[in-house]
Amino acid sequence: MLNYYKNLMKGEFMSRETALVTGASSGIGLELAKLFAKDNKNLVIVARSEDKLNELASELSEKHGVDVKVIVKDLSNLNAPTEIFDQLNAENLEIDYLVNNAGFGAVGPFSELEYERQVNMINLNVTSLVALTRLFLPGLIEKNSGGVLNVGSLAGFQAGPNAAIYYATKAFVLSFTEALSSELKKTNLKVSCLAPGPVATGFGEESGMDNALLFKTVVMNVNDVVDVAYIEFMKGKTVIIPGLINKFLPQLGRIFPRKVVREIAGKLNKT
Ligand SMILES: NC(=O)c1ccc[n+]([C@@H]2O[C@H](COP(=O)([O-])OP(=O)(O)OC[C@H]3O[C@@H](n4cnc5c(N)ncnc54)[C@H](OP(=O)(O)O)[C@@H]3O)[C@@H](O)[C@H]2O)c1
Repeated sequence: MLNYYKNLMKGEFMSRETALVTGASSGIGLELAKLFAKDNKNLVIVARSEDKLNELASELSEKHGVDVKVIVKDLSNLNAPTEIFDQLNAENLEIDYLVNNAGFGAVGPFSELEYERQVNMINLNVTSLVALTRLFLPGLIEKNSGGVLNVGSLAGFQAGPNAAIYYATKAFVLSFTEALSSELKKTNLKVSCLAPGPVATGFGEESGMDNALLFKTVVMNVNDVVDVAYIEFMKGKTVIIPGLINKFLPQLGRIFPRKVVREIAGKLNKT
C-alpha cells in the first residue's frame, strides 16, 4: 500500500497525454516538441532524419521523464499517414494532440521549378496534413479532449508570385483549419492554425527564401514563435500569428485590392 502512494507521488500512475509532432527533427517542430515534453506530454516524433529524432528523443526523455517514440517517415509518400496510424494502433498508442508541422517551400517561377518538387510539396504540406487529421480526429472527438495544431504561414493570406505553390498550400492549411475549428466548436477540442511570418530555421535555406527580400525584413526567433504558439493553442485560439507587425500583415488584404497585395508579395519573394 505504501508503495502505491509512493508511486502515486512520483506520478507513475498518472496517464500522460501524447502529442504527435511531424517535422520534429528541426526548427518549429523540434521546439514545439520540447514544449510538449516540458508540459509533461509523451511524444511521437516524425521526420526523415533518424539521427536527429533519436537525439531529441533521448534529450527529452532524460530531461522531462516522458516517453518519446520515433517514427522515421517521408510524409510526401502518400502511404505514410496510414502507416503511422496503423503502427500506433497496433501498439495501442493513443494520440491526444496532432501537430501537423512538417513542410517546405520553394522560390522561383512555377513553370521553372522542378515538377516533382512541387508535387511533393503539395503531398507534404497539404495531403499528409489532411490525411493525418482525418485518421486521428475521430479518436480525439471520441475523447473530447486534446486537439490539432496545423502549421500554416502568413503566406496563406494572399497569393504569392514566385512561390505560387507554397503560398497556395498554406492558403489551404489556413482555410481547412478555420473550417475545422468551426465544425468542432461545440467540442472541447482545440483546433489552431499557426501562421508565422519569416522564422530563423532551416526553412529559409531549403526553400531558397533566405535570398528573398522577405527574409531581409523581420525574421523571428523560433523560440519566440513557439512560445506564443503553444500558449495560444492551449487557450484554443483558431488563428495564431506571432509577432506584432505580422498580426497587421493579413489586414493589407482588407485595405488594398487583391491585385496590389499579390504584387507586394511577389516583390518580397524575388531573389
Ligand atoms: N521558417 C519560416 O520562415 C516559416 C514561416 C512560416 C511557416 N513555416 C512553416 O513551418 C513548418 C516548419 O518549418 P521550419 O521553419 O521549422 O523548417 P525546417 O527547420 O526546415 O523544418 C522542417 C521540418 O519538416 C520535416 N520534413 C521536411 N520534409 C519532410 C518529409 N518529406 N517528410 C517528413 N518530414 C519532413 C523536416 O525533417 P526531415 O528533413 O528530417 O524530414 C523538418 O523537421 C513548415 O510547415 C513551414 O512551411 C515556416
